[in-house]
Amino acid sequence: MKLSLFNLGKLMLIAGLFFSCQKPENNWYEHAINTAESQLAQAAEMYTPANNPRSVYPDGKVRLCHVRDWTTGFFPGSLWYAYELTGNPAMKQKAIDYTLALDSIKYFTHTHDLGFMLYCSYGNAYRLTKEDTYKNTLIRGAQSLISRYNENVGCIRSWDFGDWQYPVIVDNMMNLEFLMWTANTTSDKTYSDIATSHADITMANHFRDDYSSYHVVSYDTITGKTIEKQTHQGYSDESSWARGQAWGIYGYTMMYRFTKNPAYLQMAQNIASLIMNLESMPEDYIPYWDYNAPDIPNAPRDASAAAVTASALLELSELTKDGQAYFNYAENVLKSLSSPAYLAEAGENNFFILKHSVGALPNNSEVDTPINYADYYYLEALLRYKSIINK
Ligand code: GLY
Repeated sequence: MKLSLFNLGKLMLIAGLFFSCQKPENNWYEHAINTAESQLAQAAEMYTPANNPRSVYPDGKVRLCHVRDWTTGFFPGSLWYAYELTGNPAMKQKAIDYTLALDSIKYFTHTHDLGFMLYCSYGNAYRLTKEDTYKNTLIRGAQSLISRYNENVGCIRSWDFGDWQYPVIVDNMMNLEFLMWTANTTSDKTYSDIATSHADITMANHFRDDYSSYHVVSYDTITGKTIEKQTHQGYSDESSWARGQAWGIYGYTMMYRFTKNPAYLQMAQNIASLIMNLESMPEDYIPYWDYNAPDIPNAPRDASAAAVTASALLELSELTKDGQAYFNYAENVLKSLSSPAYLAEAGENNFFILKHSVGALPNNSEVDTPINYADYYYLEALLRYKSIINK
């Protein structure tokens, strides 16, 4: 008998519920995995490769993303994580289908987001299958990414739109993982030299004395000096946009994993300290979309920032001698995201997993919506959590 993805998912859901009865202390975790699997199975049936779900418009319609959208890699990446979490072979087939539709991205040179787009999709595909076709696309894509590097600045250019001379955004730290992987895989130091230069220059220029970060720093392409510092997606230039802080802690934790440079570890720990001691952090550990939003406590929350932070803190907990505090905090975030306040009921929420994220509030874009990267980093955090507690 051939089982459909959905039926197989339902069978596994029943098995999961049975399992959760055996381990009541981790009931929230099993419930989260079962919900995620059910949502992704239905989404993968409903949509078609190269038209991935991104978020939900205020009128309730799903915003789809085409191949060149910066978020296009997250849905296939979530399918790979769901496959890894559940072993469901039908989920693997969907992950393959949605990943292979993104192949042409490898030639795209108009964004720094190739790491998000390719490493989350093809990177997970290669990690889990070791098939050369994925590796070849990744390496070609990394060549495209480093074409955006300027030696005078020492960074990769983030955006091609706007009036900035050479904008570099803190989010760009995330794309360095792709370059570090490529350096290790090809033994070509060019990629890691660019990644470490970018991380060093960002460390010098993006951060304030309290280790919060600006969003955008623009550089002079001849002198390499900074021209202006802004927070384009936050409340104001001097405010702390929640997801920016999350990209920062994730980026420096990841760079420490690859390089063992203590300066990166120190930076990650400093950002962790900022987040974990934040006065404006609500009791449920899910930050307001900007730490300085003027309408706190009524400002929208950003579940995506919480998910990215949880994943980063779990990695950080493994890289430091006294990582228990990071683990405990991340566990609290994950429990909160897995509560009915943030985790969808199976079959609802347009088949996204989490509710309540913010994309770009100043543009009135994606405010208080499900969003594909919140789901992706939530699943990654659940995987990291499982791997730690199973040690
Ligand atoms: N990288 C864009 C964002 O975080 O919204």
